[in-house]
Amino acid sequence: MGATYEYTGLRPTDIAELARIHERGFPAFFLTSLGLPFLREFYRGHLDDPSAVAVVARLASGPQRGRPVGVVVGTTRPAGFYSRLLRRHGVAFALAGARGALRHPTAVPRLVRALTYRGDAPAPSFALLSSIVVDPAHGGSGIGAELQERWCHRAAAMGARRAYLQTDADENIAVRAFYRRCGWVETQVSTTPEGRRLMRNERDLTALAPGDDTHPTDPRSTR
Ligand SMILES: CC(C)(COP(=O)(O)OP(=O)(O)OC[C@H]1O[C@@H](n2cnc3c(N)ncnc32)[C@H](O)[C@@H]1OP(=O)(O)O)[C@@H](O)C(=O)NCCC(=O)NCCS
Repeated sequence: MGATYEYTGLRPTDIAELARIHERGFPAFFLTSLGLPFLREFYRGHLDDPSAVAVVARLASGPQRGRPVGVVVGTTRPAGFYSRLLRRHGVAFALAGARGALRHPTAVPRLVRALTYRGDAPAPSFALLSSIVVDPAHGGSGIGAELQERWCHRAAAMGARRAYLQTDADENIAVRAFYRRCGWVETQVSTTPEGRRLMRNERDLTALAPGDDTHPTDPRSTR
């Protein structure tokens, strides 16, 4: 029998493992280049912000029961999310960021921009899905689809009526197809100062019952 998974909120004990999963799932990406301490602060920052929306997939059976295998994070208030994070965790972020900057000095302007990012939500009712990643060892088992679905239900229950996310527009066919299959609609392309083309995806959440963050399927998935 294959692995079974369960889905919960984010817990303090998940942070170290989620940073490692992020590193494995996004080997050549910006946040990863800043190192594990920075990744840990990134996930820790979603523990205590009331606007944070986070769902963790974990093993539901076996000796490693409870171990995280995937995560999705975001916020119902993208505007100022990272500056709020900085206010609460400024020292830890500064230390983790400084270590990352020493490893990759060219990342500094981008890091400053990310931390002072005030959001680019089309309207205040939009929630932002900022990161989703599944441990590659458990990829293709339906975890990513389930995570984003539960994230959308939670965001809707917290009052969001639409959600958006950004993903690479180029050389990213599989992930773009993944979002399409999950019900997201590609809306517009933008270009970052580094010349990276991003595709905005949006999803209407109004059909997801407000006040209901449970999922229609059984909490345990055997896919
Ligand atoms: C994208 C990601 C989260 C998908 O998670 P996953 O658990 O492997 O995906 P699922 O098993 O839930 O797949 C859901 C659907 O997408 C499809 N899909 C997933 N990965 C795919 C791929 N590489 N190519 C084509 N289709 C894919 C599946 O076939 C499935 O469709 P189905 O329901 O019709 O069978 C995961 O691959 C990942 O962590 N990637 C690295 C990080 C990343 O790129 N995150 C997104 C950045 S914006």
